[in-house]
Amino acid sequence: MTPTIALRGVTKRYGDVTAVDGLDLSIQPGEVVALLGPNGAGKSTTIDMLLGLTRPDGGAARLFELPPVEAIARGRVGAMLQSGGLLPDLSVAEIVELAAALQPKSRPVAQVLERAGLADLAKRRVGKLSGGQQQRVRFAMALVADPELIVLDEPTTGLDVEARRAFWAAMRDESGHGRTVLFATHYLDEADAYADRIVFMRAGRVVADGTAAQIKALVSGRTIRATLPGADLNALAALPGVDEVESRGDAVLLTCRDSDAALRALLTSTPARDIEVNARGLEDAFVALTMEGAAAQ
Ligand SMILES: Nc1ncnc2c1ncn2[C@@H]1O[C@H](COP(=O)(O)OP(=O)(O)OP(=O)(O)O)[C@@H](O)[C@H]1O
Ligand SMILES: [Mg+2]
Repeated sequence: MTPTIALRGVTKRYGDVTAVDGLDLSIQPGEVVALLGPNGAGKSTTIDMLLGLTRPDGGAARLFELPPVEAIARGRVGAMLQSGGLLPDLSVAEIVELAAALQPKSRPVAQVLERAGLADLAKRRVGKLSGGQQQRVRFAMALVADPELIVLDEPTTGLDVEARRAFWAAMRDESGHGRTVLFATHYLDEADAYADRIVFMRAGRVVADGTAAQIKALVSGRTIRATLPGADLNALAALPGVDEVESRGDAVLLTCRDSDAALRALLTSTPARDIEVNARGLEDAFVALTMEGAAAQ
């Protein structure tokens, strides 16, 4: 099968900063992939190279086995960048019509405005929109070519809760039609809920690649939270199965390798109450993957 995205040994340097360091990444048709990583990990640089906006210093980026610029000229790719690209004097409908006119084929503008939640704002000048509304205009412009691949760099930054939900509902519909989606985000819940696959970058490299469940499994164990006023933290740390102890006001948070053993000990040897046991989530994996890098550097 022809990969939709193929990055082979892609490298980008800015002076002495290696923003992207020999990155290999292959994304198949229909996959919905989240690109995660701390600030400066190289996510936007990677996206810019695969959209042909920045030339790699080494390696090659291909979309549908074509040079990115060619795939884009054929209308096979829709992209939403973090900023820029809007003409403030045009109305919402005009700018989306313009984007449509630049494509070899396009969807009906009214349908795209509806999809992006802009139907009521069609006549408003772009320069008068709020940040979140402008973000929706970028989304509409990414969809108008009816692309096979959609690339989004932090698409929901600046959107309120309801707009984020509406955005992802629309995206889910779009990807349901077999489109491939790659998005960078800092919202772990979005990666968890919407991506089939998470690619975690740090310092220009891929350090983890898998389903949300696989990424979470990189941090094993569970956490136990309990109300325990005046707890003796050292005594808790010595309980069987407990790795780490933190105090949170009247509560304690135990990170456990063996939560069953820890729970038994907690119930028999302390007056702990309101006990909650949770599997560690994507946020813990994110922190662990980010910290590992900090330690190695
Ligand atoms: N035009 C540029 N000139 C110089 N350095 C750059 C340039 N663009 C990016 N960098 C550097 O390259 C590294 C990767 O930046 P990039 O924007 O790709 O990170 P990111 O993962 O998108 O981060 P964020 O989560 O903050 O958006 C950073 O150290 C950044 O300072
Ligand atoms: Mg970025």
